[in-house]
Amino acid sequence: MKKETIFIANWKMNLNIHTSEKLISVSREIIHENKKNIKIIFCPQFLLIPNLSRFFVRNSNFYLGAQDCHYNVNGAFTGDSSIDLLKKFNCKYIISGHSERRTVYKELSDDVCKKINLINEFSLLPVLCIGESIEDRKNKNYLNFLSKQILDSIPENTKQLLIAYEPIWSIGTGIIPSVEEIEEISDFIKFCVNKNFPDIQDLKILYGGSVNSSNFEKIITISNINGCLVGGSSINEEEYVKMLKKLI
Ligand code: PGA
Repeated sequence: MKKETIFIANWKMNLNIHTSEKLISVSREIIHENKKNIKIIFCPQFLLIPNLSRFFVRNSNFYLGAQDCHYNVNGAFTGDSSIDLLKKFNCKYIISGHSERRTVYKELSDDVCKKINLINEFSLLPVLCIGESIEDRKNKNYLNFLSKQILDSIPENTKQLLIAYEPIWSIGTGIIPSVEEIEEISDFIKFCVNKNFPDIQDLKILYGGSVNSSNFEKIITISNINGCLVGGSSINEEEYVKMLKKLI
C-alpha cells in the first residue's frame, strides 16, 4: 500500500453552492472508500459549510475543514465564526495561520497559538501554516524564521498536528521550491517539532504553494511529506481530477 496521502483543498473565497457540491461528487466518483490511504479535506468558505455538512456525517476518505476560526468560542467579534458551530456542522480540521490571514489580517503567531489551543480543546485537528517571505529566503534567514513560527504558534497541549509548509513566495505565483528545498524544510520541521514538542505523537507535514497536476506527484513522493495543501488548482475541476487520479 502506498503511504497515506492527505490532500487539503483550500477553496479560499471561491466556489458557490453548485460548484462546491459538484467537486465533492466528482471526488467520490474517483476515490473509493476502500482507499484507506487517501484523505481529502475540503475547506470551503464559511457560508458553504452548512450546506456541505450533510456530505460529511460519517467519516470516509472525505472530511470537511474550515479555513480559520476565532480563538474565543463566542463574544463580541464582528465578522468572525465560532468553532462551536464549525464542529456542529461536521468540520474536523481547521486551518490556522494561513499566510493570507497573517499578512492581510495581521494575525500573529500568538493569535494562531490561541486558536490551536481552542481547536485542541474541541478535539478537532489543527492545520498550522508556516512559510517564509522571499526576503527571508534570499537572506538565508528562513530556518530561523520558520523555527520561530513553529515555537510561537504551537501550544503545549498539542498531541496531533498537521503543519503545512507554504512559502509565501510560492502561493499563487506558479513558482515552487525544488525537491531538495522541500526536503530540507520537511526534515527541519520534523526535527524542530520533535525536539520542542515531545507530546506530539502524530505529526503530518504537508507542502502548499502552486501545487498543480504537473508537480503534485513529485511533491507527494518526498519522504517526509504526507500530502499537499492546494489552493488554485483545487477549484479547477480538470486540474483537480488529474491530481486525484495520481493518488489512486
Ligand atoms: P495556491 O495556494 O495553491 O493557489 O498557491 C495555496 C494556499 O494558499 O494554500
